[in-house]
Amino acid sequence: MLALRRLAQLKSSSLSWSRSIHASLSLRSDFAFVFDIDGVLIRGKKPIPQAKPALELLNKHKIPYILMTNGGGVSEAEKAKEVSSITGGPYISPLQVVQSHTPMKSLIHDPNYSRVLVVGGDKDNARKVAESYGFKDVVLPIDIVRSDKSISPHSMYKKEDLEKYSKKIDLSKPIDAILVFNDPRDLSTDMQIVQDLLNSKNGLIGTKRDFKTWKDHTSPSIPIIFSNNDYVYANDHPLPRFGQGAFRMITEKLYNTTNKLKPDQNLDSLILGKPFKLQYDFAHHILIDWNKKLESNEVNDDIQKLPKLGEIPETTPFKKIYMVGDNPESDIKGANDHGWESILLRTGVFQDEDYDSIIAKPTVGVFDNVEDAVKYVLNKNGIKI
Ligand code: G3P
Ligand code: MG
Repeated sequence: MLALRRLAQLKSSSLSWSRSIHASLSLRSDFAFVFDIDGVLIRGKKPIPQAKPALELLNKHKIPYILMTNGGGVSEAEKAKEVSSITGGPYISPLQVVQSHTPMKSLIHDPNYSRVLVVGGDKDNARKVAESYGFKDVVLPIDIVRSDKSISPHSMYKKEDLEKYSKKIDLSKPIDAILVFNDPRDLSTDMQIVQDLLNSKNGLIGTKRDFKTWKDHTSPSIPIIFSNNDYVYANDHPLPRFGQGAFRMITEKLYNTTNKLKPDQNLDSLILGKPFKLQYDFAHHILIDWNKKLESNEVNDDIQKLPKLGEIPETTPFKKIYMVGDNPESDIKGANDHGWESILLRTGVFQDEDYDSIIAKPTVGVFDNVEDAVKYVLNKNGIKI
């Protein structure tokens, strides 16, 4: 639990990025963009038509930008390719992509995360992503179902899924931590196995900790990290869809009920993704690294300088970072809380009639689409288009 506590301290850190760390280096641009993906550049598998011209304009003027999404479940390279191909827009480097679980890369050398249960995502994609980050012992819920089908009586896995996507694993070895990479696909299975582990004897499947002797019931048997907290997000359906935040709520409700927690108590967990500081600091590092590559014409260099989880950039070449998003609760709140500028679009979750009640108002304004927003900011910064 020490590792989780350490991360929780980082989460609650009140330090925030201040413009005072701006170092006036002789760079091409002293401002940069961070774009949300769903509801800004694409909607599900459909393009948002203004995304292509907006990104092309930024490339033309060599303005640095990265993408920061609360989505995931695939590698950064696959996400970059997907966005380029759906928008029909310019090439996007994998180094320009921060997904909700990208900061988990920083945990690969932590001995408290040696054997991890990776939850969510399609097929066995999340295993591939976790292994590509460097996690050595990755277990998926489907591996556990394969070894004991009765663990998830309503599992939707078919015989061919088990054959294709599961691995034979040794379940006598405990699981150290749960990493929720993406929205569950077989919700019933994920829900059951996650609860089993949170209430197990030190992460051993098939065991149950002693309720009476367990001192702090808010503390699970093994740490759980959610990679994003979006309750809803925008895809190509006209109404917002439930996201990983909804799975967190289900997880907490079940855990709190099982552990007879009081109304003011809750499951102890760490949540990554927007709007949390950890994610914005991580993205800021990635943006600085990308800008260096852009400046020195080394955009094809695939070695990325990764910060430690929770590390705050000491200096930045940017006077302003513009976060462009469609979700006030994640994109806009995070930007405002951590010293970035914020731009809210009408192409996703946000609806005009909700403006008065949204949790965070954009510092720059509300725009019809990403191209309008980009043009406005370029003009404001004296760039003729
Ligand atoms: O699961 C929610 C996710 O798809 C939202 O993505 O790009 O709007 O942060 P994004
Ligand atoms: Mg969005």
